[in-house]
Amino acid sequence: MAETTHIPVLVASILEAFRATAGGMFLDATVGGGGHARAILAQFPNAKLWAIDRDGEALKRATAVLPADRVTLDQKNFCQLDCLSQKAFDGVLLDLGVSSDQLDAPDRGFSFRSDGPLDMRMDQSRGETAAQFLEKASHEELVQAIRDWGEEPHWRRVVATIEKFRGSGKLQRTALFADLVHRVLPATYRTKIDSATRIFQGIRIAVNGELTALEEALPKAFSVLKKGGVLAVISFHSLEDRIVKRHFREWSGLAIDRSDGRYADERTVRGEILSAKPITPTAEEQLSNPRSRSAKLRLFRRTDGST
Ligand SMILES: C[S@@+](CC[C@H](N)C(=O)[O-])C[C@H]1O[C@@H](n2cnc3c(N)ncnc32)[C@H](O)[C@@H]1O
Repeated sequence: MAETTHIPVLVASILEAFRATAGGMFLDATVGGGGHARAILAQFPNAKLWAIDRDGEALKRATAVLPADRVTLDQKNFCQLDCLSQKAFDGVLLDLGVSSDQLDAPDRGFSFRSDGPLDMRMDQSRGETAAQFLEKASHEELVQAIRDWGEEPHWRRVVATIEKFRGSGKLQRTALFADLVHRVLPATYRTKIDSATRIFQGIRIAVNGELTALEEALPKAFSVLKKGGVLAVISFHSLEDRIVKRHFREWSGLAIDRSDGRYADERTVRGEILSAKPITPTAEEQLSNPRSRSAKLRLFRRTDGST
């Protein structure tokens, strides 16, 4: 198996936040190529780390680079964080989305930059592929993926095209499908970002149930934090960031959003937000790692619970 090509983002900010904890036991819930995990182990020479990922290939890669005597690896969806036998961590990291190892492998079907089967599953051992989703999803499911999760204003055209080309073979490969998208939404239309990027994002979120997994995972990540422990979440689009922000506000006793009509004494303070605004990569980091551009890190410290 090839070495990882993924460059971890915002490493210094995460290490700085974790340095303010007791620092003995960490959980990397999205270990990917192991970049953050290695940095954490190097920073805390006496610490142990639990590393999970839903992608079996990512785990194999991480196994090859992480010290077996300090790391427990487990293939899991992070919405199962409550099933770990270790229940108390000083620091928990969720680095959301996909890794460069996944994006750049044509056979995984995440990208339209090179041709491959339209798969997009992070965990290839289960669930339906993106091609199967496009062939079988209901009209409502397609609208949700393209309009709500791809945030595509001209979603009607894209959904109609998908429905029209079912059974034609054109929904089976990344290049054929991107070509269909470009016929209804020219690549350079509206913004500098290729129009197919949004459509692929929406379908990927649907195929992997990404937002549901995050909604389920955050309370579980909170529950495995020790008192004084820090939760670090890196998101890559506003849909994820909004979910993280709402949970952090809830746990710090703030109104979740404008529609939250509860009085202050009806809310419980369980910790503090360490990042009033999300932390973003410096210009230098964005230049050396263009994929870091949309990263946003939010940090939360638990102040209740046991140590
Ligand atoms: C941005 S990469 C993480 C890269 C990693 N921090 C590193 O330094 O190499 C995101 C990883 O999270 C994994 N992932 C995404 N959603 C997941 C979920 N619900 N449960 C577990 N792993 C997930 C992906 O398979 C991918 O390997």
